[in-house]
Amino acid sequence: MAIISSKQQPQPQEPDKQPRQRKQVAKESSDENLLQPQAAIDETDNKEEGIRPQRFADYIGQKDLKDVLEIAIKAAKSRGEVLDHLLLYGPPGLGKTTMAMILASEMGVNYKITSAPALERPRDIMGLLINLKPGDIIFIDEIHRLSRMTEEILYPAMEDYRLDITVGRGSSARTRSIPLSKFTLVGATTRVGALTSPLRDRFGLIQKLRFYEVEELSQIVLRTAQLLKTDVNKDGALEIARRARGTPRIANRLLKRVRDYAEVKSTGEIDETIAAEALQLFQVDPCGLDWTDRTMLSTIVEQFNGGPVGLDTIAAATGEDTQTIEEVYEPYLMQIGYLQRTHRGRVATPAAYKHLGFKPPNEQLSLLG
Ligand code: ADE
Repeated sequence: MAIISSKQQPQPQEPDKQPRQRKQVAKESSDENLLQPQAAIDETDNKEEGIRPQRFADYIGQKDLKDVLEIAIKAAKSRGEVLDHLLLYGPPGLGKTTMAMILASEMGVNYKITSAPALERPRDIMGLLINLKPGDIIFIDEIHRLSRMTEEILYPAMEDYRLDITVGRGSSARTRSIPLSKFTLVGATTRVGALTSPLRDRFGLIQKLRFYEVEELSQIVLRTAQLLKTDVNKDGALEIARRARGTPRIANRLLKRVRDYAEVKSTGEIDETIAAEALQLFQVDPCGLDWTDRTMLSTIVEQFNGGPVGLDTIAAATGEDTQTIEEVYEPYLMQIGYLQRTHRGRVATPAAYKHLGFKPPNEQLSLLG
């Protein structure tokens, strides 16, 4: 199955009225681990639907990216052209899919959402491309995981809106070109370095999504709470935001867990105390670190004297796979200055020692001296 989700824009008789987004199926992971990124596709899970912003005006944060995209949209519209192909990269949960949906809505075009693992066979991508309407946006998540054959089909499609197919076999094989509608490919990846350069070079815009500021996340929590009809005061929202690792998806997930706690243990209203109590119960510490983060750091500090330690060793200590550690856990630990990646392995910083309640190594040395 190639298409995970799609949306047709309404016919243009009501240009100013925005349609409600049809069922979206990007999966939100289970709450067993509040940190886990979107891991797989589940057609029935549409929990993020309804709280996603649908226009730039509702999208909080990522100001630089919004500025760049708003200019690209205005320019493409005024020339009557399709938007250039766009590559969005950055850690999971920062809003790459949401951004693709907003682009479609701002351009007034349809979108189709899929992911590289769903495009394993050449016919998956061919079917998708042949059925495109002019201006459509295709969003391919995890684009660094495309198979070579699928990628090679995409090159002429992206460059010349052309599908090259081989007819016949052996010496009688011929290539035929089928013209495609002009479209925009939005690719998303957590690992921009894993893209082949021919694919990367075919994107006109390559943009990074950054971690959000606490203040931005608290505005997102307040907005989501309003949509969920949940009472959260400003300090309650800030407490959730501080523990959300710079990531809206985590902020919204924590909000839902705190809401459960507030309803069961209290009046349902969320203030700073309730938020802190709930998140302590869920073992999310005041910096947003969970059991895996703390185990990663304490393994490096306690068993390896602060590092460097190989990724495989950290994976074995935490029971997480190396890819999840690299793409989900490490980016935030590096962002807050607790972890360094060196060519010899991972190193815990003095700030990580302090967070875990240990004396940083240079202080130990000065004590000895
Ligand atoms: N919900 C999730 N991400 C959001 C964002 N960036 N702005 C507003 N609401 C959101």
